[in-house]
Amino acid sequence: MEVMTKARPIKGFSRLSKEDKIEEIVSLLQDPEAGISLLKSFWHDDANMQKLFEEFSENTVSNYFFPYGVAPNFMINGQVMMMPMVIEESSVVAAAANSARFWIERGGFHSKVISTTKIGQVHFIWEGEDDIIQQHFAELRTLMLQKTSSITANMEKRGGGILDIELLNKRNDIPGYYQVVASFDTRDAMGANFINSCLEEFADVLRENLDLNPKYGGHECQVIMSILSNYTPECLVEAWVECPVASLKGVDDSTEPEEFVNKFIKAVEIAQVDIHRAATHNKGIFNGIDAVALATGNDFRAIEACGHAYAARSGSYKGLTEVEVKNNIFRYTLRIPMALGSVGGLTSLHPMARFSLEMMGNPSAEKLMMIASAAGLANNFSALKSLVTKGIQKGHMKMHLLNILNSFNATDQEKELAIEYFKTHKVSTRKVSDFLDQIR
Ligand code: MEV
Repeated sequence: MEVMTKARPIKGFSRLSKEDKIEEIVSLLQDPEAGISLLKSFWHDDANMQKLFEEFSENTVSNYFFPYGVAPNFMINGQVMMMPMVIEESSVVAAAANSARFWIERGGFHSKVISTTKIGQVHFIWEGEDDIIQQHFAELRTLMLQKTSSITANMEKRGGGILDIELLNKRNDIPGYYQVVASFDTRDAMGANFINSCLEEFADVLRENLDLNPKYGGHECQVIMSILSNYTPECLVEAWVECPVASLKGVDDSTEPEEFVNKFIKAVEIAQVDIHRAATHNKGIFNGIDAVALATGNDFRAIEACGHAYAARSGSYKGLTEVEVKNNIFRYTLRIPMALGSVGGLTSLHPMARFSLEMMGNPSAEKLMMIASAAGLANNFSALKSLVTKGIQKGHMKMHLLNILNSFNATDQEKELAIEYFKTHKVSTRKVSDFLDQIR
């Protein structure tokens, strides 16, 4: 490997002061002083706020800005709202807003939560017989419920808690492999800490009661790990749009509704049968969902992992949307599992996440699932709409124009001229560069 950095092995980095960490980091740069100034320029003016951000994570030396945008005119289940979106890709907020404006005149987005169950597992190895442990599992389950009662008390007051605890024999996959699988209702919390804390107590019950216990045959019980599953197919939401085919008039200046619908259906089918297209199709869905997840302090990695696993649940990876036309009604549906929280964690700590939630009327987790799924469907609809009509680049490059202009250090006046000129010309890096050369 060609070494491109001057970084050296270092012990105890996390224990260094922030200033010392910065010294260490900027020593890797050509101009360390400029590096220090840059890092500091992104510190928050309010020292308490900066401290809050630093305490979110380890070894924080500065903040990394992302644009916080809003897509207006989202009507979801008859209610109009503004969609908060944190995303760096230039055309995503515009695409969501475009879709929202289109659908608000056609009944808006509809959404319903199908279920909210989350899953956690204790994976363990035990060489005993299945029927013995199955016979006694009711006792172990009772002990597990007892041992977690102090953790679950508050969640139960809010109507959630442990829903079920089961034992799974997985010895066909790995010798001696069993699982305790528990299902949870975590109400408005994403619930990762709650679930993981319960699971670790369950693991202790196994260690204390199953390990070497003559009652179960005296076999060793080796707990391998206890962790929630980010695959939550039963934490499921469905969002859809629908309207008579004829009402799709105006979807594109030069495409009639019937032609549009035919091509749209084909595009959705292609994402069902071709993995390359499916990944891109789903990426467009996550453009919307991740942006809302970030804006509300939710864990977008968990949401993505779950969505992609769900997309592959049949054994082949497929697009997450379905389309149908029945009795001349066009209906386009996104069904996706999504473990979101609207209380706890960063949702309550990050001031901008709190702002987003307040702007949306402080939704419950279920309502937030409906909102985020509508955003995912909106972005995907916008993408497909462009793809099957005028193509994606026209709109995308228009939105990207400012990035290109900024990369050439264009002045405000140059930007104004360029924006006017490229209203009627195709945008490309080369063409923008030529244009600037001409006017400079
Ligand atoms: C770009 O971020 C997302 C799209 O590629 C999605 C799609 O192709 O459906 C436009």
